[in-house]
Amino acid sequence: MSTIKWGILATGGIAATFTEDLKLLPDAEVVAVGSRSVESARAFADRHGIARAHGSWAELAADPDVDIVYVANTQNAHYDAVLTCLSAGKAVLCEKAFTLNRAQAAKLVDFARERRLFLMEAMWMRCLPAIRKIVELVEAGAIGPIQAVHADFGISVDVGPDHRLRDPALGGGALLDLGVYPISFAYLMLGDPARVQSWARLTPEGVDENTGMLFGYDSGAVALLSCGITTDGPVTASVSGPLGRIELPGAFFCTDTFTLRRRDAEPEVFHIPREGNGLLHEAVEAMRCLREGLLESPLVPWQATLDVMGVMDEVRGQTGVRFPGE
Ligand SMILES: NC(=O)c1ccc[n+]([C@@H]2O[C@H](COP(=O)([O-])OP(=O)(O)OC[C@H]3O[C@@H](n4cnc5c(N)ncnc54)[C@H](OP(=O)(O)O)[C@@H]3O)[C@@H](O)[C@H]2O)c1
Repeated sequence: MSTIKWGILATGGIAATFTEDLKLLPDAEVVAVGSRSVESARAFADRHGIARAHGSWAELAADPDVDIVYVANTQNAHYDAVLTCLSAGKAVLCEKAFTLNRAQAAKLVDFARERRLFLMEAMWMRCLPAIRKIVELVEAGAIGPIQAVHADFGISVDVGPDHRLRDPALGGGALLDLGVYPISFAYLMLGDPARVQSWARLTPEGVDENTGMLFGYDSGAVALLSCGITTDGPVTASVSGPLGRIELPGAFFCTDTFTLRRRDAEPEVFHIPREGNGLLHEAVEAMRCLREGLLESPLVPWQATLDVMGVMDEVRGQTGVRFPGE
C-alpha cells in the first residue's frame, strides 16, 4: 500500500474539510465519494477533483479501488454506513459521535474484530501533536497524579428545529456533537469514570441544549464538564494535579498551544502546530495502522470509543434524551 486510496462517504461540511486535508498527504489519494444522491456526489467530486461519484453508500463500499472509507454523515446514520462499508470488506474511519449509543458501537467493533478489518473513531483531538504532548507530560508526572479536569464546549448557534444539532432523528443535541470532546478529554486524562452526575435543559424537540456533567473516579479525582448549543462558552480545558496544572485555551480540542504551570515555577508555554485543518493527523494515524496491519489505533482505541459512548448513554439517561428507536 504505497498510496492509500480513500473513499468519502457524505458530502457535507466536515467531509469537505477532511478531503482538503487528505490532499496535503503525498501518500493518500481520494478516489471516490458516495452520497445518498448521485447529484450531490457528482457536485462534491467536481468541487474536489475526485474521479468517481457514487449515488449510494453500497456502491462506494463496493468500489474495488477504495482501501478505506471516511464516514462523515450525520450520527444517526453512522451505524448503517459503517456496517455497509465493513460488510464490503473496507477499512473505516468514522466521525464522532461514533454512533448513537454504546450498543451500536459495540456491534460495529465486534464486527470489525470478527472480519479482521480496521475501524477507528475520527476523534482527531487524540491524534493532534499538542494533545499528544500533554499526555506525554502527564504520564511523565509533570503535574503529579491528576486530581481534576475541567472542560467546556459551549457554542451559541441560531439554528432551527430541522438542523442536525436540534433534530433527535439525526442524533442531535449538544452532547453527541460537542460534549463528546470534553468527555473524551476527561477520558484521555482519567479513564472511565466510576460515577456520572449530569443535568441538562432540553430543547422543545427533546435534545440537550445546555448540559453540565460531574464525573467521579475511584482515585478521588473529579471532572467538571459542560457543553451547550445556546452558550457562547470558553471552550477551554485544564488538567490539575498536586504539582501543577496544564491549561488549554479555546478551542481546547484542536489547540496548538498550552501552558504548563508547575507549582512554584515560571509557566512554560508550548506551541506545537497542527498541520492542515488538523484532521490530517487522524488520517496519518489511520494510514499508519492500515500499513502495519492493525485493526485498531493505539491512539484512539476501541475501548475508549466504547467507554465514551457508554458515558454519553448514562448522561442521556439522566437528562432524559432518547433518540427515535431507542
Ligand atoms: N471532526 C470534526 O471536527 C467535526 C466537525 C463537524 C462535524 N463533525 C461530525 O461529522 C458528521 C457530519 O457533520 P457535518 O458538519 O459535516 O454535517 P453536514 O454539513 O450537515 O453534513 C452531513 C452530511 O450527512 C448526510 N446526511 C444528512 N442527513 C442525513 C440523514 N438523515 N441520513 C443520512 N445521511 C444524512 C449528507 O450527506 P449526503 O447528502 O451526501 O448523503 C450531509 O451532507 C457529524 O457526525 C458531526 O458530529 C465532526
